[in-house]
Amino acid sequence: AAEDGLSGWLRYAPLSCGRSSHLSLPQTIVALNTTISSPVYTAGQELQKGLQGIFAKQVKISDQTTKSSSVVVGSLAQYIKATGNSDVPSLEEDGYWLSVKGDSVQIVGQNERGALYGAFEYLSMLAQGNFADVAKVSNPSAPIRWTNEWDNMDGSIERGFAGPSIFFANGVVVDDLTRVAEYARLLASIGINGIIINNVNANATTLSTQNIRGLGRVADAMRPYGVQIGISLNFASPQSFGGLSTFDPLDASVIKFWTDITNQIYQQVPDFAGYLVKANSEGQPGPITYNRTLADGANLFAKAIKPHGGIVMFRAFVYDQLNESDWHADRADAAVNYFKPLDGEFDDNVVVQIKYGPIDFQVREPASPLFANIPKTNTAIELQVTQEYLGQQCHLVYLPPLWKTVLDFDLKVDGQPSLVRDIVSGERFKRPLGGYAGVVNVGTNSTWLGSHLAMSNLYAYGRLAWDPTSDAQAILQDWIRLTFGLNRIVVDTITKMSMDSWPAYENYSGNLGIQTLTDILYTHFGPNPASQDDNGWGQWTRADHNGLGMDRTVSNGTGFAGQYPAEVAAVYESLEITPDNLLLWFHHVPYTYTLHEGKTVIQHFYDAHYSGAETAQTFPTLWEGLKGKIDDQRYEEVLFRLKYQAGHSIVWRDAISEFYFNKSSIPDQANRVGNH
Ligand code: GCU
Repeated sequence: AAEDGLSGWLRYAPLSCGRSSHLSLPQTIVALNTTISSPVYTAGQELQKGLQGIFAKQVKISDQTTKSSSVVVGSLAQYIKATGNSDVPSLEEDGYWLSVKGDSVQIVGQNERGALYGAFEYLSMLAQGNFADVAKVSNPSAPIRWTNEWDNMDGSIERGFAGPSIFFANGVVVDDLTRVAEYARLLASIGINGIIINNVNANATTLSTQNIRGLGRVADAMRPYGVQIGISLNFASPQSFGGLSTFDPLDASVIKFWTDITNQIYQQVPDFAGYLVKANSEGQPGPITYNRTLADGANLFAKAIKPHGGIVMFRAFVYDQLNESDWHADRADAAVNYFKPLDGEFDDNVVVQIKYGPIDFQVREPASPLFANIPKTNTAIELQVTQEYLGQQCHLVYLPPLWKTVLDFDLKVDGQPSLVRDIVSGERFKRPLGGYAGVVNVGTNSTWLGSHLAMSNLYAYGRLAWDPTSDAQAILQDWIRLTFGLNRIVVDTITKMSMDSWPAYENYSGNLGIQTLTDILYTHFGPNPASQDDNGWGQWTRADHNGLGMDRTVSNGTGFAGQYPAEVAAVYESLEITPDNLLLWFHHVPYTYTLHEGKTVIQHFYDAHYSGAETAQTFPTLWEGLKGKIDDQRYEEVLFRLKYQAGHSIVWRDAISEFYFNKSSIPDQANRVGNH
């Protein structure tokens, strides 16, 4: 079998005979829908493929229940109709019930999509050599579990690191959608039910008649997997594309434009999921141009799409350029300042999509305070699978431990437990909608993300959106077994490297909540600690000869700490009790300031950079222990990247250490810095 990465974790590699020889497998697959585009039909095909791959067993598919042992898969309604058995535990939307008793298996979804998810779960167990009997119900944490793809119509991908688009080329939807269907298969296997296929910095030509027909084809390719498509919109389209004189969201001709476009889209894509809108941010047009509010802007689309059952994901990533000489100016303040006054004004089918931190996918950020400030609004969290600031897939960085610092964070709204994951699920504030958006940016590269190991982040993204309480390491190990096999050494080695990788990256890139020290002006790759300051982007470190960090206190700084509910604000306001790992996010301190851990800030910087780079240098050596235990192709491709990372971590280490040595003139106690 080709060992390229196209099948990702869905390889269905043969299990060694010892593990399965005594096993009795179902004789028949009973798929309770024969319509080819239906997820239940897909589930039947997938079960057949899986049993063939894992056990070399050919199992026939039938749509009739049989007396012999079988795996039955269908929606609840189909199951009751076919079996007369309504004794199934109650399920939520997209949820499933999986019952395995030896060779008698029942997979029942609340809907067809849920049935497909249950089939993937059963196959995942088998592929991992888990033949236990189970009877379990699994429901998703939230209704919205989407990916965002920042693909441009010309086929390039913003912050994509795996080649050109699988969706678009030369301004139109590509003819061959094989990869699109393959991608939908991967997404379905991790419970993803929606995808925005074009860049948030949207091009209005997505709305051409030809492209709307293209959307119909994309939707057809993904529908068998239960993945619904949506698109990003350019707010100025009525003018730039529709030829109107305005794009004012309250203007009747603009409203008509969007109503017509929406109707056209639903003619091609009857199950179209919805729109994603980036407005008044980073040069994008929006309602503020016409002195309308962001809610006016969001509701414009919400009203057009409501009759069709669609939703609007409206991004909270709205900010303006600022002047660094103003000590009180702060980009981190922007989202709450813009959105809090609008709480309650968004239509019910609008979801405000909030990046996990207040700045921009940095290596460590506090949870965005916006999650706590708009209880009358649906919210979703935006995570980034593509490693924009985090090594761009040239570095191994397993992200779930970072995501968990936010998902598990308790914002203590009104003094009540208020975990971010319970806010975005809709539970905390009793909202009807909510969930997850992951920026993935897969490309045509045969590994999807440009790196075999980076796929653990996509896999884990879906698993966490389904169940954010699951353990980051346990998810990782499922992924390793499915991707590289069950060998103990393989599993242990990749586990160790992956779990060490985010702390290492934080150590050799930016520490103590400094946000990022990567180049922010051009590439977002590699060290450039000078690039944070002296510009309007507001990702400032305020480093000078004496100290660094952003004073975000209410008492003396930007006031950002005060955007959190009282108990959390009190922690961040206080220099004494702010955790070390967010110190420089909230406070401006001298390099000689002593951390809780006992070191000074500057010594921590030096030590962390050396220790992070040292950890990265263990990765190639650890990986070399896997030679012969996995296929040569993936072995070599991964080794190449890990060697690069090991070297680049030294570049990082030296650039950052020297930079702060030159700024502060404070020597390294271990004498490593400044002596080269
Ligand atoms: C970052 C990223 C941009 C992107 C923006 C966004 O700033 O660098 O490429 O457009 O986020 O999320 O809208």
